[in-house]
Amino acid sequence: MIEAKDYIKGIRPYKPGKPIEEVIRELNLKAEVIKLASNENPLGTSPLALKAMKQALKESFLYPDDNCYFLRNALAAKFKVMPEEIIVGNGSVEILPLATLAYLNPDDSAITSQGAFIWFKIAVNIAGAKLIEVPMKNCAYDLKAILNAIQKNTRIVYIDNPNNPTGTILTKEEIKNFFQQLPDNILVIMDEAYYEYITDPNYPDSFKYFRERKNILILRTFSKIYGLAGARLGYGFSGKEIISDLMKLRLSFNVNRISQSAGIAALDDYEHVERGRKVNEAGKEFLYDAYKKLGLFYLPTYGNFIFVNFDRDSQIVFEALQREGIITRTIKEYGFPNTLRITIGTESQNRRLIKTFKKIL
Ligand SMILES: Cc1ncc(COP(=O)(O)O)c(C=O)c1O
Repeated sequence: MIEAKDYIKGIRPYKPGKPIEEVIRELNLKAEVIKLASNENPLGTSPLALKAMKQALKESFLYPDDNCYFLRNALAAKFKVMPEEIIVGNGSVEILPLATLAYLNPDDSAITSQGAFIWFKIAVNIAGAKLIEVPMKNCAYDLKAILNAIQKNTRIVYIDNPNNPTGTILTKEEIKNFFQQLPDNILVIMDEAYYEYITDPNYPDSFKYFRERKNILILRTFSKIYGLAGARLGYGFSGKEIISDLMKLRLSFNVNRISQSAGIAALDDYEHVERGRKVNEAGKEFLYDAYKKLGLFYLPTYGNFIFVNFDRDSQIVFEALQREGIITRTIKEYGFPNTLRITIGTESQNRRLIKTFKKIL
């Protein structure tokens, strides 16, 4: 028998939110099943992207453009950077292992927060390097502790802002102080998957550090507000030397033709983005109020999901919700066994969720 390398045996695979089809199959449910587990846009796919994808389907027999020329140019124009400063990935998570493989030797370390988005931790494991996890402070990143944890061999610090699963953000001021103290041989990965949902003026402009030519890789995605999670499309901005390193490591044709067309069209879909933000804001207010009335502790969120605490093993609540046709997400692996992360849905989905809570709790 062939055996995997020792460090690969220790990798714990990512556990995604359950697909609707799987829950229907397992529980033989008759009621409509709603998924509030993976922070997808409850309004669905951007209509402009959908139209572009239908068009692109006809050309599925042709390989896609390996360089994502038109999409990178569209992103470059929108964000006022050069196309060479952009990488496009099969989802933004694809870019994480490219960075760890490019910059971490096995005896190097990377730092993130204990309750940070887990995919970065997997990416460090994939590179076979050392992961340093720093405790959180009030369910948020503690940047001072991260700076204190830096060692001679530290090459990457990963920050997801807002943080999944707590929904907290680091402010402009906190990020500014952090960069002032950070050694300049360390790459900061700033994962901004929920960027388009932000309305708070205290949220940092990470492009400021990009323009100052700091070692920064900014990640964004089409999976959330643009409603393209199933198309797998994400992107990153960094200096062109870093982008060129990462491009060498990706698979050829990593972004398919249909997704490239979707991305180009979605960038122009201001209406869908605006509607997504509005529905999310209204849902937030409704759910905060409802959770308060139910006596449930929650963290105010800057994303499209809420961290809700149940003071008991949340697996029980998760299963009870699932039997009622509502899929949420346990986050035990993030260190929160009593909490669920629940995506903010449409008005009717949110109402159904609260009605179900009243029944099961
Ligand atoms: C912080 C963070 N980064 C990245 C992703 C995944 O993005 P993508 O679908 O582009 O791979 C998620 C999705 O849940 C996320 O929460």
